[in-house]
Amino acid sequence: MLSATIVAAAFSLAPLVQGYAVSVDKRGSSSYLSTCQHIANSISNASAVFYPNSTQYVADNEHSFVSSSAPSACSVEPGTAQDVSTIIGILGSTRTPFGVKGGGHGSNPGFSSTLGVEIAMTRLNQVTINNASNTIDLGPGLTWDRAYNILAPSGLNVVGGRVPTVGVAGLTLGGGYAFMTSEYGYAIDNMAGYELVLPNGTITNVTSKDKDLWFALRGGGNNYGIVTKFSYKSIPQGQVWGGTRNYTADALPALKDALIKYQVKQKNDTKSSSVTSMIYTPQGIVTSVVLFYNGPTPANGIFDDFLAVPTNQTDVGPRSFSNLVNSIGYINVPPGLNGYYNGVPILNYTANVIDTAINQTQVLGDQLSKLDSSLVFGTAIELFSQGLSTHGSDSAWPPDRSHAYFPTAVTMAVTNASLDATITRAIVNYSSSLQAAAIKDGQDVKNAPVYPNYALFTNTVQNMYAQNLPRLRAIQKAVDPKNVMGLAGGFKL
Ligand SMILES: Cc1cc2nc3c(=O)[nH]c(=O)nc-3n(C[C@H](O)[C@H](O)[C@H](O)COP(=O)(O)OP(=O)(O)OC[C@H]3O[C@@H](n4cnc5c(N)ncnc54)[C@H](O)[C@@H]3O)c2cc1C
Ligand SMILES: *[C@@H]1O[C@H](CO)[C@@H](O)[C@H](O)[C@H]1NC(C)=O
Ligand SMILES: *[C@@H]1O[C@H](CO)[C@@H](O)[C@H](O)[C@H]1NC(C)=O
Ligand SMILES: *[C@@H]1O[C@H](CO)[C@@H](O)[C@H](O)[C@H]1NC(C)=O
Ligand SMILES: *[C@@H]1O[C@H](CO)[C@@H](O)[C@H](O)[C@H]1NC(C)=O
Ligand SMILES: *[C@@H]1O[C@H](CO)[C@@H](O)[C@H](O)[C@H]1NC(C)=O
Ligand SMILES: *[C@@H]1O[C@H](CO)[C@@H](O)[C@H](O)[C@H]1NC(C)=O
Ligand SMILES: *[C@@H]1O[C@H](CO)[C@@H](O)[C@H](O)[C@H]1NC(C)=O
Ligand SMILES: *[C@@H]1O[C@H](CO)[C@@H](O)[C@H](O)[C@H]1NC(C)=O
Ligand SMILES: *[C@@H]1O[C@H](CO)[C@@H](O)[C@H](O)[C@H]1NC(C)=O
Ligand SMILES: *[C@@H]1O[C@H](CO)[C@@H](O)[C@H](O)[C@H]1NC(C)=O
Ligand SMILES: *[C@@H]1O[C@H](CO)[C@@H](O)[C@H](O)[C@H]1NC(C)=O
Ligand SMILES: *[C@@H]1O[C@H](CO)[C@@H](O)[C@H](O)[C@H]1NC(C)=O
Repeated sequence: MLSATIVAAAFSLAPLVQGYAVSVDKRGSSSYLSTCQHIANSISNASAVFYPNSTQYVADNEHSFVSSSAPSACSVEPGTAQDVSTIIGILGSTRTPFGVKGGGHGSNPGFSSTLGVEIAMTRLNQVTINNASNTIDLGPGLTWDRAYNILAPSGLNVVGGRVPTVGVAGLTLGGGYAFMTSEYGYAIDNMAGYELVLPNGTITNVTSKDKDLWFALRGGGNNYGIVTKFSYKSIPQGQVWGGTRNYTADALPALKDALIKYQVKQKNDTKSSSVTSMIYTPQGIVTSVVLFYNGPTPANGIFDDFLAVPTNQTDVGPRSFSNLVNSIGYINVPPGLNGYYNGVPILNYTANVIDTAINQTQVLGDQLSKLDSSLVFGTAIELFSQGLSTHGSDSAWPPDRSHAYFPTAVTMAVTNASLDATITRAIVNYSSSLQAAAIKDGQDVKNAPVYPNYALFTNTVQNMYAQNLPRLRAIQKAVDPKNVMGLAGGFKL
């Protein structure tokens, strides 16, 4: 359970969070109990409200980082879109702060948590294959491992997340980097439609015919209502090749060379993808490389440079797509930690950028692990082909599809909640160092769009949406004149 201290520490950041202060209310959770009762009396028996100390309440408020959880007054698990409409109506008319939670992997405090009413989407967890329309519907309560496991026997797939337990909802609303992004684009480039409960309670189906909401929902986060169904274009899925290879600290120089060589080969290669995570340990930097090839055998020796470096833990080979996703450990963050991640768009992982990452990981890691030995600090270098952004039409994000930005993901987490400000400063400082190294190499990344799903709360919406911001604001004003979605945290426009 959450202790009061942890909550206080997490929420002391509130004033820094864009548009987030609105969802923090000094009256505290108990003042929202009447809203909870109002909801409980108004929803159908497909849905239910839960109170503190019930197992459902605990699960509904749980997040992958302790620091992004909050003790809501109650939680509600809607079972139908109609009940979501009823709930949003009550929250709007009573001006009650709320959170909307999919997989709970957002790391920014208050983005999917609240002291008011936490809406946990868990009951909306259907997977529906529509053969006639070649679409697949996923409920917003699903996590990617579950969705892929259910899809596996069909030979069909969608373009979605790479790591188990991450939510379908948040990932898709923010953009969605997938293993197949070089081949098909972002998750948002492969959508067929959305069932959306608008801020005024109207349930609507958004498709490409709805110019504005179609644009806004593809990358615009939780600013336009609550999605109750995501419809994806279905794609055929055969055997894939890949998994994880881990390397000890002494392999780092060889891996740096491998990464640079792979990056050149991959410029053109749409079937392969890799995530190289450099992870701090007091004994040195260990590296975990996830390799993916959309086919049973990697062609053209695309991964040979990685495979030539001796590994001490390997789990790569031909397998089913769902089996591959389930095998991914990524940067292992044990439960109970307070932490954040941030995204740093990079155009080219040059030797200088990689060296900066290595040096800073060592220096900052040594400093921070002295303050808290449970430190988890890793940098994920994600490579795609140069065409990754060319598969989709204009969308809220990315505001610039003419460049191939790679969304470096930095994760830092510790047990000690009192180190919150220290960790925040460190992750910002480290991110700036990476950007500075790229700029020094002549890369035009000063105003590169940050990926909203990786962005630490210190980023501004200008950083993410750039020239799309005025249009996104106008659409938001039109569909949500009373700013109901402003009662939920997140990057507000
Ligand atoms: C281990 C790990 C691996 C990751 N891997 C990838 C990856 O491969 N590709 C990638 O692109 N990103 C990845 N991410 C980032 C990921 O996309 C974000 O963390 C995303 O926010 C997670 O979605 P969620 O549903 O789990 O999060 P939540 O915290 O539940 O939600 C995130 C945001 O979405 C909003 N939201 C949730 N459900 C709804 C809904 N139904 N309607 C409206 N708004 C809603 C919430 O209010 C919140 O603002 C990863 C993150 C982690 C921690
Ligand atoms: C829920 O309500 C419906 C219609 O009112 C009813 O048919 C059904 O039996 C109820 N289900 C449960 C589990 O109570
Ligand atoms: C929940 O349980 C804790 C510890 O058992 C207790 O201190 C607290 O008062 C309980 N809260 C509610 C709302 O019942
Ligand atoms: C839909 O197509 C898949 C894959 O071809 C098949 O396994 C499934 O049985 C089909 N479902 C229906 C309802 O026809
Ligand atoms: C949304 O589309 C589905 C499938 O086409 C349809 O059954 C449903 O009635 C539509 N809902 C609304 C609110 O238009
Ligand atoms: C591989 O190396 C890592 C880092 O040194 C170590 O933690 C792990 O136990 C090693 N695994 C094996 C199987 O040797
Ligand atoms: C990239 O692909 C194009 C077209 O298929 C080809 O002409 C070119 O030689 C390829 N470049 C590399 C580096 O593989
Ligand atoms: C590789 O390391 C990562 C990060 O520590 C871990 O999650 C994963 O399980 C490891 N994979 C293998 C094959 O040992
Ligand atoms: C990255 O920089 C290297 C020089 O360090 C250069 O050879 C390569 O072409 C660049 N790649 C891209 C995609 O710009
Ligand atoms: C990294 O550290 C080494 C040794 O301290 C130094 O020689 C090198 O210049 C540093 N590189 C960068 C990019 O900071
Ligand atoms: C947690 O960090 C604070 C601030 O640096 C420090 O005063 C405190 O001793 C630390 N607590 C533990 C248990 O290490
Ligand atoms: C990071 O912090 C150090 C020490 O406070 C400072 O000297 C350095 O300029 C900072 N780097 C960046 C890129 O902000
Ligand atoms: C709800 O908002 C939508 C989108 O702005 C609008 O089309 C619809 O008329 C509104 N419904 C009601 C009942 O006000």
